[in-house]
Formats: sequence, structure tokens, C-alpha cells
Amino acid sequence: MSVDMPARVPRYVVAITGASGAVYAVRTVAALLEQGCELDLVVSDYGRRLLRDELGDEAAVEHLMPYLENKYGAGVRRGRFDLHGNRDLGATIASGSRPTRGMVIVPCSMKSLAGVANGLSRTLVERAADVMLKERRPLVIVPRETPMSLPQLRNMVLCAEAGAVVLPAMPAFYQLPKTLDDLADFLAGKILSALGFEQTLYPDWTGRVER
Ligand SMILES: Cc1cc2nc3c(=O)[nH]c(=O)nc-3n(C[C@H](O)[C@H](O)[C@H](O)COP(=O)(O)O)c2cc1C
Repeated sequence: MSVDMPARVPRYVVAITGASGAVYAVRTVAALLEQGCELDLVVSDYGRRLLRDELGDEAAVEHLMPYLENKYGAGVRRGRFDLHGNRDLGATIASGSRPTRGMVIVPCSMKSLAGVANGLSRTLVERAADVMLKERRPLVIVPRETPMSLPQLRNMVLCAEAGAVVLPAMPAFYQLPKTLDDLADFLAGKILSALGFEQTLYPDWTGRVER
């Protein structure tokens, strides 16, 4: 006799580290919440600074849900998130037994990239990413730096070889973006696609630029 189990709500890890591009982070979190996901959110010290520096004090991690609702609408309330400390290596997401479906690091600093590439697990961001790789779950890394040094380029190759999707913060312009939010929609849409969602944040390419 089989017992019907309730379907699990999709749960993803989202990490925000101290590389420029806070707008990509908040758009990605909002888009996953709009999809009804439960998120394990971990924000590094410089990620926390980034949210305030680039988006203002109202986007500080302590006020993130009201900020997202104000900016993106009530749809974000379809999901929820648990916030973890980056030094808490005993958090649930430090273990492969936590039933998460994947993880994105957006944006990903060169420091955190180096830690993931070399399996260091010094912080919860690095450890949760290590868990994704060892469990063969999707890991999307969104690095931002320019120009890039040879060690930084090599670290991206190491991550790709280990199974991660390296999705640089490189918005396209063939969608004729008019605002920064249009650029963020494009990147968040790419991230959701990489995590297996059917995204609607930007239109599919039709074969020509739509004016
Ligand atoms: C305003 C600001 C912008 C930064 N932008 C970047 C960046 O785009 N890419 C990067 O790799 N590091 C950037 N950094 C440096 C990182 O924040 C720094 O290396 C930090 O130690 C990263 O730590 P984390 O990965 O734990 O967040 C920036 C720092 C500041 C204060």
C-alpha cells in the first residue's frame, strides 16, 4: 500500500555576497518568492553592506520582505524565506540532508568564488555551495568583476568543472532595456531558467529585435 505524501514546497538557497549588483539579488529573491518557493537566505557581511549601499537602508536585510513587497508587489508573499548567519556552519543548509533543490550565489564576489572553487567551506555561503556540488544539485554562480585576473578566470573554470553553472552578471541589450530594473529582470530570468523554472521576466528571443 502506498501512502500519499504531501508535495514539498520547492526550497532553494540564495546567497548574496559583496560584489556589485544588489538589484540582481533582490530581483532574484522576489522572482523565486513569486514562484511560491521557500528560500534559505544567507547574506555575507559585505552582501549586507551592498544591499544598503546600492539600494538604501530600506533594503537592509532586516527589512527585506517589506522592501520586496513595496518594489515588486504582493506576489512575493506567495513564498517565504529563512535568514541564516554566514558564520553559522551548523545551519540546516550546511548539511546535504536539507531538502533543497538548488542554490544561487547572486552576486558572487571573487572571494566567495575562490572559496567555492577550492572547496574551502569557511563560511555558510561556501559550505552550502559545497553541499550542492557534492549532492549534484544545481548551483548557479553569478560572478561580477572586470577586468578579471587569471586566478579569477581559473576559479570560474574550476566551478564549471565541478558542475556549477557560471552565469556572469552580463545583461544583454537586445531586449532594448529602458531601466535598471529591465536589466535586473533579464538576469533574474536567466537565473530562474538555470534553476529549471519557466521564467516570464523577459520575453523569449523571436529572431529579431522587437521595437
Ligand atoms: C562597494 C563595494 C563594491 C564591491 N564590488 C565588488 C565586485 O563587484 N566584485 C568583487 O569580487 N568584489 C567586490 N567588492 C569586494 C568584496 O566585497 C570583498 O572582496 C569582500 O571581502 C567579499 O566578501 P564576501 O564574498 O564574503 O561577501 C566590493 C566591495 C565594496 C565595498
